Amino acid sequence: MSKNFYITTPIYYPSGKPHMGHAYSSIVADIFARFKRLESYNVLFLTGTDEHGQKIQKEAEKNKKDPKIFCDELSETFRLLTKSLNLSNDDFIRTTEKRHHLSVIEIWNRLVNSGDIYLDKYSGWYSVSDEAFYDEDEIEDKNDGKISKSSGSAVEWVEEESYFFKLSSWSKKLLEFYKKNPNFILPLSRRNEVIKFVEKGLKDLSISRTSFTWGIPVPKNENHIIYVWLDALTNYISALNFPNTHDKKYKDFWPADVHVIGKDILRFHAVFWPAFLLAAKLPVPKKVFGHGWILSDEKKMSKSLGNILDPLEIIEKYGIDQLRYYLVKEVSLGNDGSISLENLKNCVNNDLANNYGNLCQRVFSFIKKNCDNKIPFSTKLDNIDKKLLNNLKDSLPKLISLMNNQELNEYIKKVVSFSFDANKYFNDSEPWAVKKNDPERMNAILFTIVEQIKNISILLNPIIPNATNKVLTMINLPVENIKIDTIKDDNILNNQKEIGNLEILFNKIEDDN
Ligand code: MSP
Repeated sequence: MSKNFYITTPIYYPSGKPHMGHAYSSIVADIFARFKRLESYNVLFLTGTDEHGQKIQKEAEKNKKDPKIFCDELSETFRLLTKSLNLSNDDFIRTTEKRHHLSVIEIWNRLVNSGDIYLDKYSGWYSVSDEAFYDEDEIEDKNDGKISKSSGSAVEWVEEESYFFKLSSWSKKLLEFYKKNPNFILPLSRRNEVIKFVEKGLKDLSISRTSFTWGIPVPKNENHIIYVWLDALTNYISALNFPNTHDKKYKDFWPADVHVIGKDILRFHAVFWPAFLLAAKLPVPKKVFGHGWILSDEKKMSKSLGNILDPLEIIEKYGIDQLRYYLVKEVSLGNDGSISLENLKNCVNNDLANNYGNLCQRVFSFIKKNCDNKIPFSTKLDNIDKKLLNNLKDSLPKLISLMNNQELNEYIKKVVSFSFDANKYFNDSEPWAVKKNDPERMNAILFTIVEQIKNISILLNPIIPNATNKVLTMINLPVENIKIDTIKDDNILNNQKEIGNLEILFNKIEDDN
C-alpha cells in the first residue's frame, strides 16, 4: 500500500510583487515534498493564492480594477513564480474558485450547527495589512498612529456588527491537544510561544466583517463577509474536495502531514485553525512548522529600506538551483536569517561550482578521455573505496530522520561534507597515476567516485533538482525512477554505459557579477 503525504505552503496574498520571503517559504516546503517522493511516498503538495478580504479589495481599488480581474492577473504572477522557483506543487488553489467556496460554506455551517457561532458587535483594533484583530496590549503608538507590536503594521479602530466564533471555550481543549501532540507545533520555541498565548486565555474571535464586500458572504446574512482567515485556512481541505469527506483525495490526505508557514502566521495556523477544525468535528493536521524571517543585512527586507533582493532577478542572473541552495544553506530553518548578494556568491562558488559541480566535471571528463567514455565497473574495491561509500550509506537513516524532523541545515551540512570528502578521495587516489600500470585499480577508483556522485546527487536532488537531474541523466539513470533506495543499489552502474553529453553545472560567479 502506498504511503500518503500531504504538505502545504501558505497561499500567497496576490497583492504585490513576489519577494524573497515568499520564495523561501515555498522552496522549503518543496524540498520536503521532493524528499518524501524520493522516499516513495504518494505526495500531495499544495500552494495557491489567498484572494479575498479587505486588503485585496483596497489594492484592487488603488489600481482601479475590479477585484476579480485584479486577482486573476496577480494570481497568474504567483502561478508563474511557482514555475520560476521550480516548485513541484501538485495543485494551485485560488480562493475565488467554486470548489473553495463550497468548502468554506460547509465549514461555516458546521460551526453554526455545533453552536460555536453567535452574532454581536466587534469594537477593537484591526490591521488590514495583516488581516488580523489585535488587543490593546498588542499595539503601540508610532508617529501619529498606532501599530501592531509584532508586525509593525498600522492598525485602525473598527466597530461593526460581527459574527463571533466561541474561541474562548476552546482554550482548555487546545492546551490538552498540544500536550498530547508534542510535535504539532515546531520548532520548540514556537510551540512555547503558542502555549503561552493560549494559557493567557483566548477571547472569542470575530469571524465576519460588514465594511467591505470582497469575499464569501455569510449564508443567510449576506451583509456579512466571512473573515478572510477562516476563508483562507479552509483552502487546505478545499483542495481535497471537502465537503465530500468520502472523496478519495480527502480520505488519502487529510489530516495534512505538515503545514509549512512563516512565523508571522503561526497564531492562525496553530490556534485558530485547530479550534475551527475541532469545532467542525474534523481531524487536525499533524504538524505546523513555523520558519523564521528572511532579513537583508540584519534588517527586515522592506521597500523603504531599499534592501530587497528580488528572487526573480536573482534567478535570472544566477539560476534557480543557486538561489534554492543558498537560501536553505544560509538561513537556519526556524530562525531569522540574513541574506546578501555577497554571501550568495561565496556560497555558490564554494559549495556548488568548486565542490560538487567541479567534482562531476573532472570525473566525467577523465572518464571521457581515458575510458572510451564508458563508466567503468569494478568489484575489486579497496578498503578506502568502501569506506568512502559506506560512510554515506551508513548515514542514510540519520539523513532521513533529519529531513523528517525538518532539520534541513544539518542535512545539508552532512551532504556537503560527503561532497568535500569525495573531492579529496579523487585527488588523493590519483587515477591518472595508476592508469598505465594498474588499470584495474583505476577502474575501481572511477567506479567508486561515480557511485558516490550518484549518491550525493540523489541526496541533493530535492534541493537542487535541475543540476542533479542533469548529472543523473549524464550517468544514464532515469530521473523519474530515482528513489532514496537507489543509493543502496551499488549494481545500478554495472552496465558500463557511456556518459552522456557533459553540461556545465554551475558557473563560478566572478566578483563583478
Ligand atoms: N495569505 C497568507 C497565508 C494564508 S495561508 C492559509 C499570507 N500570505 S503572504 O503572501 O503574506 O505570505 C506567504 C508566506 O511567505 C508566509 O509563509 C509568510 O510567512 C512568508 N513570508 C512573507 N515574508 C517573509 C519573510 N520576509 N521571510 C520569510 N517568510 C516570510 O501570509
